[in-house]
Amino acid sequence: TWTTGNIIDEQVAKIREQVGDKQVICALSGGVDSSVAAALVHEAVGDQLTCFFIDHGLLRAGEREQVERDYAESMGIKVVTIDDSERFLAALEGVSDPEQKRKIIGHEFIRSFEAAQRQLIAEAGADGKEIEFLVQGTLYPDVVESGGGEGAANIKSHHNVGGLPEDLRFELVEPLRELFKDEVREIGRRLGLAEKLVARQPFPGPGLGIRIVGAVNRERLDILRAADLIVREELTKAGMDSEIWQCPVVLLADVRSVGVQGDGRTYGHPIVLRPVSSEDAMTADWTRLPYDLLARISNRITNSVEEVNRVVLDCTSKPPGTIEWE
Ligand code: XMP
Repeated sequence: TWTTGNIIDEQVAKIREQVGDKQVICALSGGVDSSVAAALVHEAVGDQLTCFFIDHGLLRAGEREQVERDYAESMGIKVVTIDDSERFLAALEGVSDPEQKRKIIGHEFIRSFEAAQRQLIAEAGADGKEIEFLVQGTLYPDVVESGGGEGAANIKSHHNVGGLPEDLRFELVEPLRELFKDEVREIGRRLGLAEKLVARQPFPGPGLGIRIVGAVNRERLDILRAADLIVREELTKAGMDSEIWQCPVVLLADVRSVGVQGDGRTYGHPIVLRPVSSEDAMTADWTRLPYDLLARISNRITNSVEEVNRVVLDCTSKPPGTIEWE
């Protein structure tokens, strides 16, 4: 019969068979999926695994520090942080089409992995074993929604499944490919990952890049980062973290509306709150957050994030809306 323990044993055996004595790299996103995937591979092949954390400039506030401290140190897994934000942001300059953004980000990620591979080979020196494997925390719903599943429509190119260039020089290791999020969390717990990491809400690989409707730039990212941090703080304070699946915060960078502050007219951007409840992200309902919580979030954002003069609530289920706006 099917248990979490069985899945772990089965996947560990499969990974050992696939990888042999070769080196493996894993791109850590800071999220549950890649963390659990890496922990499984670490369980299977130990120090043959090196994790990379790519700072693509599209991270949330504090994200990088969290990965370096809470994951790497506590799990004893080798993690190398690479700051490629300049390259990602340059590639995204002026691009506002969602699929285009996703493809660019996916493409730049692969370039980062290849650079990481070269660096590792250089460091390995005399022993110089080839790094041939790349771990990805692809889940079953990612496969389905990117058109990989049976009879599935191509809704969005998830960066970890779509958009891989033809000249990809890695063989993928995807131990979570048949699993749903709740199963992945359970496996993470069994492997000893900290609860605060396992319980983390999903965050998309393309990061804040797909939460800015319009072109992405540093200034817009700073606005969104500030608003997103406020939302996360207030949700946590209100004890809502386990109630909701996730709450994307979206900056409508190409939209402006008229407002008033003090004696003056403002002409700022709206921030959208997208709190959702879900079992597996395939379908979702919008979460009925308490009004006073919404009021606190709205007040704090409009008081402290200068360029934002309106906070709106997305009350659309999935379908017809997707969870992310892009
Ligand atoms: P949608 O917007 O398709 O999102 O309803 C479903 C779930 O997937 C997450 N998501 C992603 N995760 N890479 C990821 O790792 C991606 O490219 C990506 N796009 C969306 C989203 O946050 C939600 O949990």
